[in-house]
Amino acid sequence: MDRLKGRVAVVTGACSGIGLGTVELFVSEGARVIAADIQDDKGAALAARYDGQVVFQHCDVMSETDIAATMQAAVDAFGRLDILFNNAGAGGSPQTIAEMTGEAWDFSQNLLLRSVALGIRYAIPHMKSVGGGSIINTASIAGTQAGAGPIAYSVAKAAVIHLTTCAAAELGRDGIRVNAICPGLILTEIFTPAANVPEGLAKIIKDSMRQNAHNAQPIAKPGLPVDIAKACLFFASDDSEFVTGTHLLVDGGMHVGPRTAWDPEARAERTRMMEERRAAWERSQAET
Ligand SMILES: NC(=O)c1ccc[n+]([C@@H]2O[C@H](COP(=O)([O-])OP(=O)(O)OC[C@H]3O[C@@H](n4cnc5c(N)ncnc54)[C@H](O)[C@@H]3O)[C@@H](O)[C@H]2O)c1
Repeated sequence: MDRLKGRVAVVTGACSGIGLGTVELFVSEGARVIAADIQDDKGAALAARYDGQVVFQHCDVMSETDIAATMQAAVDAFGRLDILFNNAGAGGSPQTIAEMTGEAWDFSQNLLLRSVALGIRYAIPHMKSVGGGSIINTASIAGTQAGAGPIAYSVAKAAVIHLTTCAAAELGRDGIRVNAICPGLILTEIFTPAANVPEGLAKIIKDSMRQNAHNAQPIAKPGLPVDIAKACLFFASDDSEFVTGTHLLVDGGMHVGPRTAWDPEARAERTRMMEERRAAWERSQAET
C-alpha cells in the first residue's frame, strides 16, 4: 500500500492507457503525482478525482519548454521529484522505409525519442538535489523486433532502450536509476487515436481487439495498462534499488518465438499441412 509513500512522480501521457493506469497505481501506493499530457479536459478531471494528490500539467512532450516546466512543476507543487515515467507516445508516422520523408521521420523521433532524452535531462537537477531518483522509460516490444510497429516507431523505441542503458551509466553515481519497460500488446487508445479514426470504426477496432487480445501471446489473457503499471511500480520503488540500465519485456511472452512455438492450434495446423503434403507426394508416387 505504501511503497511510494513520500515520493513525488511525474507521469507523461498520464490521461489514457498505460500512463493513466500508472497514475492510479502510484497514487494507491502513496505517491503524489504530476499528471502530464496534452488532453487538458481529461487532465483536469483526473486532478479533481485525486484532489491534492494529483496535479495536472499541460505538457506537449514535443516541446522542450513544456518538459522543463513539467519537472519544475513537481518541485513547485510537492517540493521534490523522485520518479519520472517517460511514457507519452503514439504510433507516429506509418510510412515504410521506401515511403519515408525526413519530416515524417523527425516527427516520430521527436515524439518518441527526443522527448525521453529531454525528460531525463530536465529531471536530473531535481533528482540530484534529493540524492537520487528513478526514471522509467516506455519502450516497446517493437524496439526489439521488426513488424510490431511502423519502422520509425520501432527504431525510436529501440533507441529508447539504448538511451536507457547509456543514461543509467552516466547517472548511477548520482543515485539516479534508469530502466525501460517494453510492453507487448496492451489494450489502450493507441490503436484508435481520436483524431485519426472515426468513432464507429474505433468501436469496431476496439471490440475486435478486446475479443482477440488474449490470443496474441502465450499467456492467454489480454494485456492491460495495470500490467505495465505493476512493472513501473517495481522500477519506481526500492524493490528495484539494485536494478539500473535494464529493459523488461512485459508482453505475456509475445517475444518467445513464432506462433507455432506456443499455440497448440497453430502447431496442429502446421502438422496438418505437412501431412497433406506427404499424402499428395505419396499419391503422385503411386501414379508413376
Ligand atoms: N498499447 C500498447 O500496446 C503499447 C505497446 C508498446 C508500447 N506502448 C507505448 O506506451 C506508451 C503509452 O501508450 P498507450 O498505449 O497508453 O496509448 P494511449 O493512446 O492510451 O495513451 C497515450 C497518452 O499519451 C498522450 N500523448 C500523446 N502525444 C503526446 C504529446 N505530444 N505530449 C504529451 N502527451 C502525449 C496522449 O494524450 C495519451 O493520453 C507509448 O509510449 C506507446 O508507444 C504501447
